[in-house]
Amino acid sequence: MVKICCLGAGYVGGPTMAVIALKCPAIEVCVVDISVPRIAAWNSDQLPIYEPGLDEVVKQCRGRNLFFSNDIEKHVAEADIIFVSVNTPTKTRGLGAGKAADLTYWESAARMIADVAKSDKIVVEKSTVPVKTAEAIEKILTHNSKGINFQILSNPEFLAEGTAIEDLLKPDRVLIGGRETPEGQKAVKALKDVYANWVPEDSILITNLWSAELSKLAANAFLAQRISSVNAISALCEATGANVTEVAYAVGKDSRIGPKFLNASVGFGGSCFQKDILNLVYICECNGLPEVANYWKQVIKINDYQKSRFVNRVVSSMFNTVSGKKIAVLGFAFKKDTGDTRETAAIDVCKGLLGDKAKISIYDPQVTEDQIQRDLTMNKFDWDHPIHLQPMSPTAVKQVSVTWDAYEKPAFLFDGRNVIDAEKMREIGFIVYSIGKPL
Ligand code: NAD
Ligand code: UGA
Repeated sequence: MVKICCLGAGYVGGPTMAVIALKCPAIEVCVVDISVPRIAAWNSDQLPIYEPGLDEVVKQCRGRNLFFSNDIEKHVAEADIIFVSVNTPTKTRGLGAGKAADLTYWESAARMIADVAKSDKIVVEKSTVPVKTAEAIEKILTHNSKGINFQILSNPEFLAEGTAIEDLLKPDRVLIGGRETPEGQKAVKALKDVYANWVPEDSILITNLWSAELSKLAANAFLAQRISSVNAISALCEATGANVTEVAYAVGKDSRIGPKFLNASVGFGGSCFQKDILNLVYICECNGLPEVANYWKQVIKINDYQKSRFVNRVVSSMFNTVSGKKIAVLGFAFKKDTGDTRETAAIDVCKGLLGDKAKISIYDPQVTEDQIQRDLTMNKFDWDHPIHLQPMSPTAVKQVSVTWDAYEKPAFLFDGRNVIDAEKMREIGFIVYSIGKPL
């Protein structure tokens, strides 16, 4: 029986390994983490992350060929294939602070693997890492190897939160990069055989290590760039009377452009787009390519502009101050169907409103009150009043129409995702602002 061990039981490690276990009953999969509460949650009825369909997959496999454990060294020592899916956040201090990826967790994982391994291992980069990381990892492993053979593969993950299970079951592609030596190609084949249990052969792409590492950063940069492009156009729509939904539809009808990922919004959030673009920018700068770095930097600048534009719009519409005004915020996670609040645009929007002393109430079906308090009280400013968190009906329209009388008039609605039926809300009496649409 092939044994797989995955370091990091987070948004990627957990769901990815659960699907491998589901589709490969002949493989034993163990997900390990340094966090004791996280592993306890994976072993309980209340999984540490919310993902549609995840509960069912875990229930089916846990205890059969899927295990969660804090006994990292034991499972690493026993494994044939080790996935490393630890976090790689943006560095906050030292060389490259604010841009470069912090590989501390990755490096300590690699040193630990070198320490405890007693047999040959395939080590798979699942985390998103700077191009050429495999070279550094290889050095750490081989210099401490005691004669053991390590093969490093790059196998970046393309799942999106909220659709992780669907994405894993039917990936657009699986990408595997390895050394172009016979041993490297043997390792590539071993990993390919795992995915071939459910992914069609022609969707499994094999490249060299650096192409695989760079493709992940490039894919996220292209995706984020589409959002910044449509968001930039949304500002022009507001200035001219064009409607961004109509423009995006017309643009996306061109088969060379395609219709997906063209929804104007209050700005992209999530733990990866900004982090990965900053990382790309840093790599370009380090390689003497300032023009390329500046090109990608602009994607983040437009995203920041879109978030502050939204806040400014709220404040200026409400007679240039929201001080003391009651504002309900529906939705706090960075997108629907997740409880993840990392880099959510809601944090910037709420902080902007709180900065002008608004009284805000926040509702998100997947985010706890504690999490919201933590996100909004973290550094930057010291709020002089606590945030009100009130339970509200998940169906905004129903809730709002029921309690219309409770609103001070004129009442406003600001739709940062263009999901509300603006006409219906105007009929009720609201002044509605949608991104990139005429008032
Ligand atoms: P996460 O923070 O949810 O999970 C990472 C886990 O790794 C944490 O539970 C942490 O305790 C654990 N960890 C850290 N060091 C460890 C060690 N030495 N040994 C064992 N466990 C350790 O992060 P995530 O969202 O799952 O992201 C992981 C990686 O995957 C990142 O590089 C990210 O860029 C990439 N990625 C994320 C997504 C996503 O949707 N979240 C998608 C594709 C790729
Ligand atoms: C994104 C990518 O889609 C994944 O392929 C990638 O694996 C992942 O990053 C990663 O590397 O972490 P994720 O951030 O989970 O996935 O979610 P997305 O669906 O990409 O949404 C990101 C943000 O963009 C959200 O805030 C979303 O609301 C926003 N968005 C998305 C828009 O504003 N408009 C759109 O048209 C699409």
